Amino acid sequence: MKQRAPRVRAVLITTAVLALALGAARPGPRSLDNGLARTPPMGWNTWNHFGCDVSAQLVRESADAMVQNGMRDAGYQYLVIDDCWQVARDASGRIVPDSTRFPGGIRPLADYVHSRGLKLGIYTDAGRRTCEGRPGSLDHEEMDARTYAEWGVDYVKVDWCNAEGLDAPTQYARVRDALARAGRPIVFSICEWGSNRPWEWGPRTGNLWRTTGDIQDRWASVLQIVDLSSQYSLAAGPGAWNDPDMLEVGNGGMTDDEYRAHFSLWALMAAPLMAGNDLRAMSPATHDILTNTEVIAVDQDSLGAQGMLVAESAPDLQVWVKPLRDGSRAVVLFNRTALQTAMTVSLGRAGVRGSARVRDLWAHADRGTFAGHFSAVVPAHGVVMVRITPEGGR
Ligand code: GLA
Repeated sequence: MKQRAPRVRAVLITTAVLALALGAARPGPRSLDNGLARTPPMGWNTWNHFGCDVSAQLVRESADAMVQNGMRDAGYQYLVIDDCWQVARDASGRIVPDSTRFPGGIRPLADYVHSRGLKLGIYTDAGRRTCEGRPGSLDHEEMDARTYAEWGVDYVKVDWCNAEGLDAPTQYARVRDALARAGRPIVFSICEWGSNRPWEWGPRTGNLWRTTGDIQDRWASVLQIVDLSSQYSLAAGPGAWNDPDMLEVGNGGMTDDEYRAHFSLWALMAAPLMAGNDLRAMSPATHDILTNTEVIAVDQDSLGAQGMLVAESAPDLQVWVKPLRDGSRAVVLFNRTALQTAMTVSLGRAGVRGSARVRDLWAHADRGTFAGHFSAVVPAHGVVMVRITPEGGR
C-alpha cells in the first residue's frame, strides 16, 4: 500500500487545525433532508462475515443476539441483509426473495426484527445486476422502493456493480426520489466506492456514501481507508456521512489492539458503525470493543463533526481530534508503527486552551487534569483514545 506523501499530510493537518479553530462542522444546508440518520447509523450487515450465505434464520438469530449481548442498548439498530437475498423478478416486475432462505418473504422477518425493537435493512444495486449477479434496481426504482416500504424495510444500501454507462449522481437521485415517494422513512446508503466523488453530491442525495473500495480484515486495509476517507471530513454532518465501510471487528484477521484502533478511528471519523462479525459467537474482547459506550458516544455525538488528523510528530505517530457538542474533544493517539511508543498531544493542537480533564475511553479511567500537553504509552498498531474537557468550559 502507498504511504501518503509527507507534504499531502502536512496540508491535511493544516486544514484540520484551521477547521478545528473555526469550530467547523459542515458548510451549508446542502443535505438530503429526510430527517434520518442525524447521527451515524449503527447496526450490523451480513456481508463481511457471511457473504452470500444469508437467511431469515441468520437475521433473526442475530437480532436475538443483539438484544441479549447489550448491542441494542449500546445503540445498534439496523440489521442489514446484503447481497444474495433476491433471486428474480416476477411477471409484474416485482423483486422475488429466495423462498428457501426467506420463507414467506421479507415481511415476516421485518415484523420479527421490529418486535425486538430493531430495524431491518436490505440491499440492491443501481445497475442491472448486483455484484453477485442478482437482479438490480435499474428501471425498477419506483417499484422496488414501494415494495421495500410495504415489507417494512427501514434502510436500503444501493451498490454500483454493472452500472456501466450510468451517471452516478443522476442514478442515485432517482433512487432517492423513489424512496421519498414510497411512504416510509428509509435510510439511504450509497455504495459506489468513492468512484464518482460522492462526497460532492452524496450529502444532497443519501444519508451515507461509501468513500472507498471494500474493507478487508487486515491492518493495511484499515490504514488505507483511514487515509482516504479522512480527506472528505468537511462533507460530513447530521443526516449525511462519509462511509469508510463496515466493521471487521471480531472477524479474526487482526489483533484486538488493531480492532480497538479500527473501532476508535471509525468513531473519530463519525463513521456508520455497522458490525460485520458473527454476533452469535464472539469473544469477550470483541464484545467489549463493540459495546464500548464511551467510544460510541464520540461517534454518536450530536454535533456531527468528522474528526481529523491534526499532528504527526514522527512518521506514523498521529494525533486525531473530533470536536464534541459539549466543547470537549475526542482525541485518538494513533500508533501505526509496530513498536509500542510514548506519544504526546499538545492540548493547543487539539483546540483546547488552559487546563483540561482527561478521561481514557478504553481504560474507562480519569487520568487527571493537564495543562499544555498529555502523554501516554500507545501499543503497537494501536491507540489510546481520550476525551479532553476544558476546565473553564469551551
Ligand atoms: C460490493 C460492496 C460490498 C458488498 C458486495 C456484495 O462489493 O461494496 O459492500 O455489498 O458488493 O456483493
